[in-house]
Amino acid sequence: MTVVNARGTAPSLLTEGRADFPAGFVWGAATASYQIEGAAEEDGRGRSIWDAFSHTPGKVAGGDTGDVACDHYHRYAEDVRLMGELGLHAYRFSVAWPRIQADGTGPADPRGLAFYDRLVDELLAAGITPYTTLYHWDLPQALQERGGWADRDTAHRFAEYAERVHARLGDRVAHWTTLNEPWVSAFLGYASGVHAPGERDPAAAFRAAHHLLLGHGLAARALRAAGAREISLVVNSAPVLTPTQVADPSAPVAEADAEAVRRVDALLTRQFLDPALRGEYPAEVLEIVERHGGLAHLADGDLETIRQPIDLVGVNYYNPCVVESGPGEPANPAWPGTEDVRFCPAEGPLTAMGWPIVPTGLSRLLLRLSADYPGVGLIVTENGAAFDDTVEEDGRVRDTRRTAYLDGHLRAVHAAIEGGADLRGYIVWSLLDNFEWAEGYRRRFGIVHVDFGTQRRTLKDSALWYRDVIQRNGVLEKA
Ligand code: FCB
Repeated sequence: MTVVNARGTAPSLLTEGRADFPAGFVWGAATASYQIEGAAEEDGRGRSIWDAFSHTPGKVAGGDTGDVACDHYHRYAEDVRLMGELGLHAYRFSVAWPRIQADGTGPADPRGLAFYDRLVDELLAAGITPYTTLYHWDLPQALQERGGWADRDTAHRFAEYAERVHARLGDRVAHWTTLNEPWVSAFLGYASGVHAPGERDPAAAFRAAHHLLLGHGLAARALRAAGAREISLVVNSAPVLTPTQVADPSAPVAEADAEAVRRVDALLTRQFLDPALRGEYPAEVLEIVERHGGLAHLADGDLETIRQPIDLVGVNYYNPCVVESGPGEPANPAWPGTEDVRFCPAEGPLTAMGWPIVPTGLSRLLLRLSADYPGVGLIVTENGAAFDDTVEEDGRVRDTRRTAYLDGHLRAVHAAIEGGADLRGYIVWSLLDNFEWAEGYRRRFGIVHVDFGTQRRTLKDSALWYRDVIQRNGVLEKA
C-alpha cells in the first residue's frame, strides 16, 4: 500500500537534509507516575494494581518495584530544573489515581492533589506547559478487587476522579489526556497478563477495552463541561506491515496477507479510534468480541458517550507491528482473535527491548491517521528507545544510538507534516530512565540517566542534542 496524502501525491516517508519544524511546534518529554514517583506509601497514597503486581514474585524482571523509582515525588523541583535546562516547552506527566483517591472512590485526598499542585506551579514558573495524563495504568487496587476495568463501574469511578483532579488543577492546566494506551491496559493487563493486573481472560480483556473507552468518554464529557481547553486520548497505534514492507516501504501488501493485516489493524487501532472518533466499532472487531464472551457489556448509548469531541489524538510510536498470514497459528495471547496470523520476529537493527527500528513507520502512521480520522489534531506523545547506557569516567553518556533513533524519527515526523498531517508536537519518551513495567529498571529509555543507587541524574548526549534541536526548532543535515 502506498501512503497517499490528501493532495493525492505519495509523500516521501523520511525527510533528508536539514528539517525545520513549523512555528509553534511543541517540543516535550514524558514520564508516568508509577514509573518515576516512588513515595509509594506517602501522604495517604493507596495501593495500585502495579504495586500488587510488582510485589508478586516472578512478575517483573529482577523483582523490581516502583516503591522508590526515581524518587521524583521528592525530587520534582530538581527534575523541573533539568527540563528547564533542556528548553522543553512541554512536560507530559501522569497523575497517580491512588494518591487522589486511595481506594478509587470518595473525596479527593488534599495531600495527593497538593503534590501535583506543586509540580504544576514549578513547571509554570519554569515556562513549561503541563500536559496531564489522568490514567497511565496505576488503577487503585481496591477497584481491581471489584473487577477493575472488566467491570463497568470503573468507567464511572474514572470520570469522577478526572473531575476531582481538574477541579484542583484546571485553573492552570489546559491540556488533558484521559487514557494512556487503552490497548495495553486491556490486552497486556487482562489477556496476556504480562502487565498488571496480570489476568489471562480474553473476554475480560474485551470488556476492559470497552469500559476504558466508556471511561474516556465520560471523563472527556466531564472535563469539557468543567472548561478543559484541550482534551486528548493517547493510543499505541502502529502501522501493521508485512515483513516485505519493513524492508521496502513502497511494497504492496500481498493478497494472501491482506486479511491478517486488516484484522490486526482493527484490533490495535480501529477498536479504539473508531468508537472514540466515529461512534462505531469496526464490524470485524464486534465479530471477534462476540466470540469471546459476547456483546452483553455494550449498552445502548455507550457509543454516543464514547464519541466525545476531542482536540487531539496522542500517538505513542516505537515500532511497527509486523504480521503475515499463518494458517493454523493459534491466537497470540495478547491478541485474542488472531488465529491464523503469524506475528513475525523482529529483524534489522533492534533496541535493547528487541524492538525493530523503523522510522518510516511513524510517517506512514501519522499520514494514515490524518487521512482516516480528519478533523482531529495529532501529537506524538511518546517516541524513544532503550539502550544499555553507562556513565563513562568523564561523566558523559555517549548514547549515539538513541540520538540516531530520535533523529530518524524526527525526520519521519517532519515528512508527515510535509505530507499534510496536522501534527502539533513531539514528546520524547522519556525524560528519565525509570521503572519500565515488566522489564523493571534494566531498560533505560531516558534522555537523562538515573543512577538508581544514588538518584543522581546525568544528561545523556541525546539530551544535549535534543536541547539543540528544540533551540533551532529543527534537525540539521546528517553528518
Ligand atoms: C509505552 C508506555 C510507557 C513506556 C513506553 C516504553 O507503552 O506508555 O509508559 O513504558 O511504552
